[in-house]
Amino acid sequence: MRWNAWAASQLEQVRASNRWREVRPCGQSSLISFAGNDYLGLTRHPEVRRAAIEAVERFGTGAAASRLVTGTLSIHHDLERAIANWQGTQHALVLPSGYHANLAVMAVFGAEDVTIFSDELNHASIIDGCRLSKARVVVYRHRDVDHLSDLMRIHTGRRLLVSDLVFSMDGDEAPVAELAAVCRQHDAMLVLDEAHAVMRTPATPNCETLYVGTLSKTLAAQGGWIAGSQALIELLINRARPFIFTTALSPATAASALAALRVLLSPEGVALRVRLRGLIESLRPAHPSPIIPYMLGDEAAALKAAALLREHGLLVPAIRPPSVPIGTSRLRVALSAAHRDDELQRLRAVLAQCIR
Ligand SMILES: Cc1ncc(COP(=O)(O)O)c(C=O)c1O
Repeated sequence: MRWNAWAASQLEQVRASNRWREVRPCGQSSLISFAGNDYLGLTRHPEVRRAAIEAVERFGTGAAASRLVTGTLSIHHDLERAIANWQGTQHALVLPSGYHANLAVMAVFGAEDVTIFSDELNHASIIDGCRLSKARVVVYRHRDVDHLSDLMRIHTGRRLLVSDLVFSMDGDEAPVAELAAVCRQHDAMLVLDEAHAVMRTPATPNCETLYVGTLSKTLAAQGGWIAGSQALIELLINRARPFIFTTALSPATAASALAALRVLLSPEGVALRVRLRGLIESLRPAHPSPIIPYMLGDEAAALKAAALLREHGLLVPAIRPPSVPIGTSRLRVALSAAHRDDELQRLRAVLAQCIR
């Protein structure tokens, strides 16, 4: 069969399973979006925009080489120092995406003699990183510390535990203190993915820890980061292929992330998080993050609810397999401090019609 014919037959299967996806431009849409991850609304912040423009004026538009060749600019070092300070670690490293960051960590630390323990709902980039590693991979039930402890007792040798800090499809939090206690007991290293952890001050578990995150959500830019001890970061610099064999972050991207981080850590950043907390409370009291799932179970029900919201001018994605397990299709609302009160009211009103 020729390749185009094969692709067409595969697409037929995608359509038949009602899982067709397409890329649509959203920036110009008149819909109010509850789908993005610009949690503090910093993508349009004047200082963040100004930093990007100044970086283009100073460094040009692209880094033009990988970090270990000639791609490292002073703005990369400034950003890495700021991330290390923020996370309370000796060192940090930035990469082209959070996806790259997880691939890098899993590939470098997941050696042949290692067992990786991974929460069943970890992000796809962690799963793909595990596939790239040479380690044995053991999956434990979501947030189930007893299950994890049992598995740690069975699988001896060097151990690495990896978890989202805030889970991207459910918006719930990992039990960090308990995970750290299990790590201490078994001399395991903890890897925490903070991609969605906008409402938390950086976690400080009392065990060997490596932190992973993204510049593309709260920090309003693009790219990923890893923070940890000097030895861990230097090993990544020397061995991580997703860091070594790719072009450095563009200067504008690095500068906008740095400016966004400065806003996050300023009194304005505190106020934005208070605002976001208030919005979360108005939709789901005591929920730990701005990702709020509305479970519908059936894929068709989730698609129908998303269509009704769209008719009312609201963009809320229907999340369905393979992004989530079969039977757990849902609407996923992502809140931002930039949402207005009247927009929340509209959302609440339409949700009340589709969630019974
Ligand atoms: C938990 C988690 N980790 C990593 C990533 C990847 O980050 P990036 O978009 O920067 O590649 C995402 C989402 O995109 C995520 O939700």
